[in-house]
Order: sequence, then C-alpha cells, then structure tokens
Amino acid sequence: MTKCVLGVLAGVLLTGQAWGADLTGDWVFQAAPSFPCFTKMAIRQDAAGLHGTITSEWYGDLPMLDLKVVGEGPAGERLVFHIDNGNPKLKPLDLTLAPNGQGVTLTGQVWYEKQEATAHRATAAEMAALDFPTYPLPAPAHVPSNGLARTPPMGWSSWNKFAEAIDDKTVREIADALVRSGLRDAGYVYVNIDDGWQGERGPDGVLHPNAKFPDMKALADYVHARGLKLGIYSSPGPKSCAGYAGSYGHVEQDARTWAEWGIDYLKYDLCSGEGFYHTAETVQAVYQQMGAALVAAGAATGRPIVYSLCEYGRFDVGAWGRDVGGNLWRTTGDIEDSYASMAAIGFDKNGVPHHTGPGGWNDPDMLEVGNGGMTTEEYRTHISLWAMMAAPLLMGNDARSMPRDTLALLGNAEVIAIDQDPLGRQGLPVRKQDGTEVWTRPLADGSVAVGLFNRTDKPMAMTADWPALGLGDHPSVRDLWAHRGVVSGAVHTVPAHGVVLLRATR
Ligand code: GLA
Repeated sequence: MTKCVLGVLAGVLLTGQAWGADLTGDWVFQAAPSFPCFTKMAIRQDAAGLHGTITSEWYGDLPMLDLKVVGEGPAGERLVFHIDNGNPKLKPLDLTLAPNGQGVTLTGQVWYEKQEATAHRATAAEMAALDFPTYPLPAPAHVPSNGLARTPPMGWSSWNKFAEAIDDKTVREIADALVRSGLRDAGYVYVNIDDGWQGERGPDGVLHPNAKFPDMKALADYVHARGLKLGIYSSPGPKSCAGYAGSYGHVEQDARTWAEWGIDYLKYDLCSGEGFYHTAETVQAVYQQMGAALVAAGAATGRPIVYSLCEYGRFDVGAWGRDVGGNLWRTTGDIEDSYASMAAIGFDKNGVPHHTGPGGWNDPDMLEVGNGGMTTEEYRTHISLWAMMAAPLLMGNDARSMPRDTLALLGNAEVIAIDQDPLGRQGLPVRKQDGTEVWTRPLADGSVAVGLFNRTDKPMAMTADWPALGLGDHPSVRDLWAHRGVVSGAVHTVPAHGVVLLRATR
C-alpha cells in the first residue's frame, strides 16, 4: 500500500495529473500481437500479495510470475512479470499504467515476437466473455498398438522446403513426382502435409481446411490412387506452431474428420500446447488422448493412422511414446539445412537407442537432402546417419525438380535397406577419435552396417577393425555408396564431412 501511495504522489508530482488508481483490477486488451495474442488479465493485491493471471489465445490462462512494482513509467505505475509457457527463452514483460488510470500498455517480448498492446479496464461481463475453456485430460491408460510402422516410416513432408507455402496442387505434383522418380517404389510412400493446411471450424466444431486445400478427401483419393498415403498435421494446443487452429477441445472430432478424409498419418506438434501442458504427466496425457482418438477413428474407417509425436524430445518421450500409441517421436528441436545443425542432431542427439524398434522409432527430424544448404558429401552423411539410426526417412525437398545426385542420395536401395532393416536396431558409435567416428548397426541377416564418418574438414584415412567388431579377420564387405565389394583390409579415404558406408558379412 505504501508503495501505491508513493506512486500516486510521485505521479502527481511528476506529471501534474491526478491519477489515483493502480494496476490492480480487470483488463481487456484492445489489440495485441497475434502471438501469443493476449486477451485479458486480472491483477489482484490481497493477503497473498500482488498476483495476477494473463490470458492469451495461444496459451490460455497463465499466472503472472514474479509480478512486482518496479516504480513509475513515463506516464504512471509500472509492473513487471514473466510468463512460463514451458519455453525457457521467455523474457520479462512490462506493464505501464496510463496517466488516467484507465489504460495500460504491455511491452516486451514473448519468444521471438515483440509485444506492444494496450488494455482498458473491463467489466465482469467483458472478462467473462473472454474466459478460456479448459478440458479434462484422460487418466493414464495404454493405447493399443495400431500395428503400423514395423520399419521406420518413409515419405515426404512439406515443411522443410515449403513451410506455409503449401497447397493442394503442389501436394498432387509431389505425389506424381514420387511415382515418376521411382522413389515411391523405393519406399517413400507417405506424402505429409505439415503446418499450414488448417482453416476455420464450422459452427459444429468441424475443422475445415483453408482455401489452399479445397477438398481434402479428393486429395486423399488422388494420393491413394497412386499407391501413396496422405499425412496431416495438428497440435494439442489451441494453435499450431505457425498459428493455425490446433485440436484443443476437439481431439476426437478432429481424429474422426481426418479418418473420414482418408488420412493415413498424423504429426501432432506440441506448439502452443506447451503453455497448457508442461509437465511429464500432462504432456503424456494429451498425447495419449489423441493416440486413443486415432485408434478409434482408424478402426471406424478401417484405415489405421500412423501417429507421429512431436514434442521435441521432452520428458524422455521414447520411454512412453508407444504407450500413448505413438509410432515415432521427435528426439530434438527443428533441424536446419546446415551441416552444423544436421551433425549436432545426427551424431549427438539421436534419442535413447533401446526405445527404437519395430512399431516405434526415435525421430531425429525430417531430411534436408536436396535443399541446398549442404554439400553432396554432407547430404550423404545426413542420409547415412539417418539410415544407421533407423530413423524415419521423410524427404524435405522439392521432389518435383530433383537433380540426379539428390535422387541418387535419396534412392540408394542398399542404404534404404539399412534404414529399413527388419531387426530395427539403432546403430551406435563404437569408436570416436580425432573427429572421426565408426558406427555399427546389427542387421537381421547377421551382417553389420558400418559407417566410417569424418567430422573434420579435411580427408581422413579410416579402416574398420573387423575382429573387434566381431566379424572375424576377413568378412565380405560391400561399399553401399560405391555399389561394389571392397577388400576387407582396405584403408578408406573419407572426405571432409563425409562417410564411407559398408555392409559386412562374416
Ligand atoms: C515445429 C515443428 C516443425 C514444423 C513446424 C510447423 O517447429 O518442430 O517440424 O512442423 O513446427 O510450424
């Protein structure tokens, strides 16, 4: 209270205006940046001290953490606080009272989005109209397996190349290109639309695609007619990462809608859900809810749906991904089309190896092969590492216009056979020395895939120590990129950032 009085006096002295109110009370924002789109806030001062709740369209109700008076702004009293949406990079936000005590300006930054928003004092009715709905989460339960993804899913996804600039025509052209290039027959069968297809919900709550996707069922029919499968994307929160409608409050309904369209694959991306669900229990529950909904919807139409969990590897997702019905789960944040990003994920952040196997896979993110940010050798390392890890292979390039070397990288049947090996064991580094790494992966027929990786920026001579790898002195060895047998004792010159990928049989 003392502070408030001092504040009033200072305000009078400094501005000459008689503003007497402080920042407690109910506020409704007139206009706010679309991320996270603050709508209202309630600030109270009582026996518990100063506290408040701020509501946004992305994150619902969030407590205003560390809310405190820091003095006077140019116009009036100033408060600072911060919010916790589960993202560690958030900075403090700042509230300044207008001289007449009836308006407040919020400034600062939420994640990457600069904030400048004004709010006015609100009536109880105005506040109630902006109440954010909450929904109960299911109790922990095991979601039965859908029987899919006995080997890592293969296909194409729109995000890495097209981001939001994706539409029906492009998806059809990609489907045609997968057939024409032979990549469908090499195993790339899922055509996945990532973020950016969503439109509005109808009065019945049914989510419709936006104008770029006039008829999802027709698109699914087109894709299916070519021997391919169609994937789609959503979020457990109210908003997807790019700000489109998420499945919050519509989980079962959305699963039914997708099943009716003929969807074969869902990537479920935490995004704004991180504001609601930031404990292991709630994240698991919300993924379980969609997992169960997909199983039910897929059973009703006879088309089971692959379930891809995307929560960036939080809360040891591989340990419970299968329990919630997941067929793959991201182990990291987003890949970028650079050697540094790819190598950081591929060599060092590939999930807990024993979690991977038939039906459920560690997912180090989609491929960047062919997008232009790496050399051919680096892309060869990218696909070789993903194959050694038994990672899902989701092309992320413009498959309509593929140079020959990109096609050779993606379509190498001997490398794909490593990735798709039915044993489903994740390969591991067995030796790291001077920037080189030797990786091995046991295969179903008793042979072993061996990757000689060179992370340095100059060529390195590398050999495999066959007896140490349990393959005797002279295994039969094939070079999977050169497509020929090699003598077991060969010393390989591995290019900078490159790889020699071998398959050895005792
Ligand atoms: C997140 C995901 C990406 C992509 C985008 C879409 O960043 O991790 O893979 O789906 O959202 O907005």
